[in-house]
Amino acid sequence: MTQQQQHHEEASAKGGSSSDIIERVKKDHEELDDYYKHYKKSLKDGDGEAALKWFNQFVWEICRHSVSEELVLYPMMETMGDRGKKLADKSREDHHKVKEMLAEMESMSDAKEMEPKMDKLMEELREHIKLEESEDLALVEKEVGLGARETAGATFALGKSIAPTRPHTMVPEKPVVVEAALGLLATPMDKLRDMFTSFPKA
Ligand SMILES: [Fe+2]
Ligand SMILES: [Fe+2]
Repeated sequence: MTQQQQHHEEASAKGGSSSDIIERVKKDHEELDDYYKHYKKSLKDGDGEAALKWFNQFVWEICRHSVSEELVLYPMMETMGDRGKKLADKSREDHHKVKEMLAEMESMSDAKEMEPKMDKLMEELREHIKLEESEDLALVEKEVGLGARETAGATFALGKSIAPTRPHTMVPEKPVVVEAALGLLATPMDKLRDMFTSFPKA
């Protein structure tokens, strides 16, 4: 492990604040992919309850991740000229699509039943992630120095804390987490921003 990796590990272990926003976003992407794989594996093993737990974990993480990107990453890109604005708009559109797909699953309570929709959602999400990493984050890397990216990374982590790690409503037999997540995603951005600024600065 390099010193930088170790620093990163330590920082994430304590919910740290000094990591590059690029690394934080990528790490979330990996986690999302991981949760999806666990969901699929649980289904394959015939464990519907475990699958639903992984589904809930996935939904909540995608929600926290999206909110934070919309609060920190995309506004930052908007300061980077037309290209930044265009990419931010495209990413917000992608998020909107994913949110609609989540809404379609709101009334489902069986992990197996939601599998086709979940697969479709993941396909969509992987496309978005590919674009976000190769275009959005590449632009940020080109335009912003490491110091400022670390500050943005701290703000990104703080943005994620608007949504608690787990909603109280997370119970295995009912995917009410979708409802909670959609509720959060439906909160107007200016209201979220107000909540956000009432947090102590990291
Ligand atoms: Fe995104
Ligand atoms: Fe993302």
